[in-house]
This record gives sequence, C-alpha cells and structure tokens, in this order.
Amino acid sequence: MSAVRGGTAGGSRGGRFAQFIDWVDERFPLTAMMKEHVTEYYAAKNFNAWYVFGVLALLVLILQVVTGIYLTMSYKPSAEDAFASVEYIMRDVEWGWLIRYMHSTGASAFFIVVYLHMFRALMYGSYKSPRELLWIIGMLIYVALMAQAFTGYLLPWGQMSYWGAQVIVSLFGAVPVVGDALVEWIRGDYFISDITLNRFFALHVIAVPLALMILAVVHILALHTTGSLNPDGIEIKKYKGPDGIPLDGVAFHPFHTAKDLVAIIVFAIAFCAVIFFAPEMGGYFLEHANFEPANMLKTPEHIAPVWYFTPFYAILRAVPSKGWGAFLMAMAIVFLFLLPWLDRCKVKSIRYRGWTYKVALAVFVVSFLALGFLGLKPASTGYVYAARFFGVLYFAFFLLMPWYTAREKTKPVPERVVYHGHH
Ligand code: HEM
Repeated sequence: MSAVRGGTAGGSRGGRFAQFIDWVDERFPLTAMMKEHVTEYYAAKNFNAWYVFGVLALLVLILQVVTGIYLTMSYKPSAEDAFASVEYIMRDVEWGWLIRYMHSTGASAFFIVVYLHMFRALMYGSYKSPRELLWIIGMLIYVALMAQAFTGYLLPWGQMSYWGAQVIVSLFGAVPVVGDALVEWIRGDYFISDITLNRFFALHVIAVPLALMILAVVHILALHTTGSLNPDGIEIKKYKGPDGIPLDGVAFHPFHTAKDLVAIIVFAIAFCAVIFFAPEMGGYFLEHANFEPANMLKTPEHIAPVWYFTPFYAILRAVPSKGWGAFLMAMAIVFLFLLPWLDRCKVKSIRYRGWTYKVALAVFVVSFLALGFLGLKPASTGYVYAARFFGVLYFAFFLLMPWYTAREKTKPVPERVVYHGHH
C-alpha cells in the first residue's frame, strides 16, 4: 500500500522506503547517481546482440570475485600444500567442486566475453573519437585480465602451472640489459619456487582484482561521459528533443536492462552446461597436464598456455630469436592500444565503411583464430611456418591501416539511427 501512496523514490514522497531514500539522499547522492547512470542514461534504441557483452563482462567479474573469495578460504598458497588443497576443495569442501569449476570456467568465459566485446568495437568503430580514452581503459583492463589469468594459473601448482610460469617469466629475460635481474625480481628466487607462488597469490587475490574493479568503474564513467555508440556508428547526442533527451535514445533501465536480462539467462544456461557436463572442456579450460603435481625435474612433453593466450604464444614461437619473439608478442598488444590513431576513416560503423576495411577485419579475425589454433599445437616446422604467415597478416592489419583506411570508399551515413521496431 505504502508504495502506491508513496509513489517511487523520485516521485511524491510518503512511504517509509521513500522517506529512507530521502534520508540517504540528503547525505549521499544515491538517487542522483541512479538517475545519471541507470534510469536516465540514454543509449541508442537500435542496440543489437553485440551490445550485451559489456554487461556480461561485469557479471563474470563479480562471479570471479565472489567464487575467488570462497576458494581462498580453503586454498593454501605454499608449494608444499597448494596442489593438495585444490584436491581437498574438489573432494571434501562442501560444494567446493562447484565453486572451483565456476571459477575455472569463469576465467575462460571472461576471455570469450571480452574478445566478443572488443570485436564489437572493431566492427562499429567504438574506439574512434571521442571514445579513445574509453578504448585505452578497456585495453588496460585486457592487460590486467591477462595478468590475472596468468597469476591464477600458477596457484594449483600443477605441471602446467609450473612450466607455463617458467616459460612466460623467463621471457622477461629478453629485456635488454636488465633482463636477468628482472626475471629474478619477478620470481623472487633463482627458480619458480614457493616464494614465487606466494607473491603470485598476493597479486591474484588482491592487487590485480582491485585494479580490475577500479578500471571497470572508470571504464563505465568514461562510457557515460561520451555516451554509448551503436551499430550505425551515429552519435545520438546530435538530435535531442526539447526535454534534452536524445531522440534515438532509450533509458538504460528498464529498456536495455530488459534485453540484457535475456542475455544473462542465455549466458547462465551455457555457463551451467559447461560446469555440469564438460568442466575441463576437453582440456581447453583446464589442461590435462595440470592434474599432475608440479615437478621441477620433469618438463612436460608439450607446454601450451590456455587457449586465450595461444594467439600470442604462436607469435612468440614463430620467431627464431627469443628476444624478437617476446618483442613481437608485446607489439601484438601494443598495436591494439594504438587503433584509434591508426584508423583514419571518418565513418565509424562497418555498415557504411568500404570493402577494404571489411576485408581487413575478416583477415584479422581469421589470422587471430588461426594463430590461436597454432599456439595449441607443437612447434613443428609446418605449424611454425603457418604461424609466420598468419603473424604477418595480423601485423599487416595494423601496419597498413593508416594507408587503406585513408583511401576507403565509404557509403553515406544516415542522420538518424536505423531501427525497425516491432508492431
Ligand atoms: C572487465 C572487463 C570489461 C567490462 C566489465 C566492460 C564493461 C563495459 C560495459 C558495461 C559497456 C557498455 C555496454 C556495452 O557496450 O557492451 C562497455 C562498453 C565499451 N567497452 Fe568495455 N568492458 C570491459 C572490457 C573492455 C575491453 C577489454 C575493451 C577494449 C579493449 C572495452 C572497450 C569498450 C568500448 C570501446 C565500449 C563502448 C562501446 C560502444 O559504445 O560502442 N571494454 N564496456
């Protein structure tokens, strides 16, 4: 009853709850923040399915933090106990298996969602002015996510944890002059040891997640400053009604949240399917070799990182010199940061861009997927040559971009967003 008499928090005040909100508002801008970021944040009405992955990334971030806290309650960060404590979580801790599978599946889900989220930006030109900073913040999140996955992978102290860390940490040795000292500084020892495990634990459970959460908030603040783009790549702020609301915009809540809820349900079904029916995903989400405890005297026959790192791993192995391999691997990520300045085309969305960009983007996607596949394979001659071929295509996408985007024959961009509503 009181809700009917009192109306909503923003309307006429009367109900107990509304009074409480008033009390809070006088002390903290709760209603103002909800309005700015939720109920009066206007995003284009023509969002398509590609626009759900930001919210899904937020969901997975929360899921990882919560399941991570529970895992930490039973995990022991020492070379002596780590492997056994994970087995203990799987077998003895109540629901421990579920928490662990949620966390391990969540890691892969995070990368799937983020890769699709980034691909959307490449399709619709979301990284272009005025969203360069939003893109850079996104890239920082991506790098932090890689650090998070890498440090987390050492924690079960399995064979692949140990040898994977060995390979990647030793790459820092390729840095000129300070390389060896840097490797020692990262490990905290002369080899990957209990000390390394302890510091990776500290990074994985507090330092990097904290950075990720802060960056995610900053990411949303930057997004809400420029406003979201849309599949037509048109700035909806250009056409506002007398009330100051973009004519082609609809409030994030309830309109976009309703659609996002559908995406969350679909995601949850797929996520549960993996957890309950294929938690190791055939060795792609949890590698077989990691079910053996770390043994520093026995190198596994074939060392490969988890699938989300393999495109970069393939680039590393494609180069005969370790130094140059590590350099190119780093450049593969640096070029992504530079995208807003490499792309010279004024038109944002792929819908109205010329064939050159469409072909270039297709080649880029194929080369990224091919490198991902090759990174999973042993470094035999045929695979290494293939990785060189696709590596060249990967870099060509960026290096030639200022040239082919400046010459692009674009189509006319409509003034207002194209939307075919339901009748
Ligand atoms: C923890 C990871 C991330 C979270 C939680 C997150 C969250 C979000 C959310 C909620 C949105 C608005 C909804 C949407 O457009 O999908 C968004 C937009 C955006 N994100 Fe992210 N994001 C993450 C990672 C990234 C990464 C890695 C990049 C790129 C390197 C990125 C680049 C962008 C861009 C450019 C937009 C604006 C898209 C547009 O308006 O067209 N984000 N992000």
